[in-house]
Amino acid sequence: QPSTPTDIDDRLDAAVAAAEHGGTVALDSFRTSLDVETKAEGSMDAVTAVDRAVQKRVFEFIGERYPDDAVVGEEDDALKTVPEEGVAWVVDPIDGTNNYVAGNRVWMTSVAVCRDGDPVAAANYAPATDDLYAAGAGRTSRNDTTAAVSDETDLESFLVNPIFGVSRSDRRELSAVVDTVLAEFGDLRRFGCAQAALSGVAAGELEATVSTVELNDWDTAAGVHLVRRAGGRATDVYGNRWRPGSRGLIASNGEAHDMLVETFDPET
Ligand code: IPD
Ligand code: CA
Ligand code: CA
Ligand code: CA
Repeated sequence: QPSTPTDIDDRLDAAVAAAEHGGTVALDSFRTSLDVETKAEGSMDAVTAVDRAVQKRVFEFIGERYPDDAVVGEEDDALKTVPEEGVAWVVDPIDGTNNYVAGNRVWMTSVAVCRDGDPVAAANYAPATDDLYAAGAGRTSRNDTTAAVSDETDLESFLVNPIFGVSRSDRRELSAVVDTVLAEFGDLRRFGCAQAALSGVAAGELEATVSTVELNDWDTAAGVHLVRRAGGRATDVYGNRWRPGSRGLIASNGEAHDMLVETFDPET
């Protein structure tokens, strides 16, 4: 159980090394011709042999160092839910597979460490731009510098990045969110990589990111921790503190977070 800051920092170093290791494996095959499968008939949820190979390598890396820790991951038959107790690593080998297969540079290898369901260390590595976002018990960093959320307070200047899945029903919800963002905020970005959106909020590249649909914990856990350690807030769509398994996600620089929640709360 990592309970002291040193234990967390120890896991953080390993999370960074694991994300960099996995990301570098993925980069080797970036912009090469790949066989792309979809996870279900007619679905846009793409997967390649690279996603699976990277997850395998990252799991091995963690397993060699922390054999008693639980490991959650998107691909194959890995554990899918973060245990409420104990230490769990949460891995998305490639977040943004659709970008990855299209040769678009916005994708990340994401590794978070949770203790009793709360993220305590996080590393998001974007191999195509060689950007590393990391946070342990202390500050959030982007590469060699401290990262902090933006201090923008004027909603009309906010850049908001909606995160959405790829199903038809998600798209209907997306249109509603896009309309709201365009009507009430400064401008819209959609990276197609949840962890890049969250990393962006943490580093002040954007003011907020929002998902009103269900995301998986590997899409969010690392980024939520980065945002918090960078001075921002991350809640579910009802404004409750984000936890693994939460419904939806709103992460922001903290300024006007309650307003954001009010705007996107599905029940108002
Ligand atoms: C997806 C991306 C995307 C989000 C989807 C995720 P994947 O992850 O994060 O931005 O909208 O909900 O599933 O499948 O590329 O790892
Ligand atoms: Ca996927
Ligand atoms: Ca993902
Ligand atoms: Ca993925």
